[in-house]
Amino acid sequence: MAATDLERFSNEEKRNLSLGGHVGFDSLPDQLVSKSVTQGFSFNILCVGETGIGKSTLMNTLFNTTFETEEASHYESVVRLQPRTYDLQESNVHLKLTIVDAVGFGDQINKDESYRPIVEYIDTQFENYLQEELKIRRSLFNYHDTRIHVCLYFITPTGHSLKSLDLVTMKKLDSKVNIIPIIAKADTISKSELHKFKIKIMSELVSNGVQIYQFPTDDEAVAEINSVMNAHLPFAVVGSTEEVKVGNKLVRARQYPWGVVQVENESHCDFVKLREMLIRVNMEDLREQTHTRHYELYRRCKLEEMGFKDTDPDNQPFSLQETYETKRKEFLGELQRKEEEMRQMFVNKVKETEAELKEKERELHEKFEHLKRIHQEEKRKVEEKRRELEEEMNAFNRRKVAVETLQSQSLQAMSQQPLKKDKDKKN
Ligand code: GTP
Ligand code: MG
Repeated sequence: MAATDLERFSNEEKRNLSLGGHVGFDSLPDQLVSKSVTQGFSFNILCVGETGIGKSTLMNTLFNTTFETEEASHYESVVRLQPRTYDLQESNVHLKLTIVDAVGFGDQINKDESYRPIVEYIDTQFENYLQEELKIRRSLFNYHDTRIHVCLYFITPTGHSLKSLDLVTMKKLDSKVNIIPIIAKADTISKSELHKFKIKIMSELVSNGVQIYQFPTDDEAVAEINSVMNAHLPFAVVGSTEEVKVGNKLVRARQYPWGVVQVENESHCDFVKLREMLIRVNMEDLREQTHTRHYELYRRCKLEEMGFKDTDPDNQPFSLQETYETKRKEFLGELQRKEEEMRQMFVNKVKETEAELKEKERELHEKFEHLKRIHQEEKRKVEEKRRELEEEMNAFNRRKVAVETLQSQSLQAMSQQPLKKDKDKKN
């Protein structure tokens, strides 16, 4: 098809046509359901809350089973993320459920960095998914998606306000994950206090700009229930796997000397609301939001960091090929610059060493000249001394010869004198 034909075709208005009879594509939704059921679902929950706040108990209560857990100690030096994956089945629907525990959260003396391992864990799951997406041979169909779909943030039922650790952590997480805040162990706080506590928490979240997950109200089927439930946040929950006889029925509850707190009694706590919202109504929305909002944001930032853009400066679509070429050129340029820098550094080093050697040579030469001058001076002095001594020796010798001559003359004279005396005597 020529380019102009293509343009005309895509610019044409779509026309509504009626079908002469049953064709069968109305089965598409059923095909989708059937495919999804065959494929199974995955759902990943992150539990953040201080040690012993009731995370494991609530998970067991929510899924009506006993997950393997071990009690955390209060002596973890850092927050550690512990994922555990389970295969659950209800009717013919398979659910691969991953529960990630933030072990040791709130137990460190310095809590400044407590949020970091959690953020890193969430990012790592996004990164793994992105790497799979970028592979040439992708297998997203059977990829085990470990991206966190919801973070249940367990608030300690103090009745006062949120701790700064809660606010900081939720603020750091809110652009990365759907946060559902819950007040844990709600049976330990009175009804009126709980009401005030809820209001206080919500106003603190708003004033600190923490975005928590809002149950969607755009789908008519669930808009009403979701908007009612949004007003009930944060849910105040009680967890228990113990069964207590109430009337003639066994119910999950916590028994106290003064009475029984029933987990699934809506006038006792919000557990049913949480289960309804998290599992029965909005599980798919949580999965979708994770993919379309949080993962999309991570992916966009990551790709932009790598230099990819959708449009070039002239607002033209950016091709992958061009981006690759630009990046390659940038990389080669950088490599060349580094190489040049290193060569220059080497030349400078050689020059420096050469100058140092020359300086050393000059110093040595000077030293040599100095010593030579001293030596010559010494030599000259010795020579002078020698000359003086020679002169002294010559003078001495001359004196010696003179003395000897004198001596011999006087001796001669003396030896001639007796002879003369004798002669005189004879005469
Ligand atoms: P770690 O994994 O060790 O951090 O603890 P956790 O947060 O998983 O708490 P866990 O579920 O082990 O519960 C700790 C204690 O709190 C247990 O004794 C539970 O019985 C109790 N507990 C759990 N849920 C509730 C609750 O809703 N109300 C009250 N009062 N106690 C609860
Ligand atoms: Mg636990």
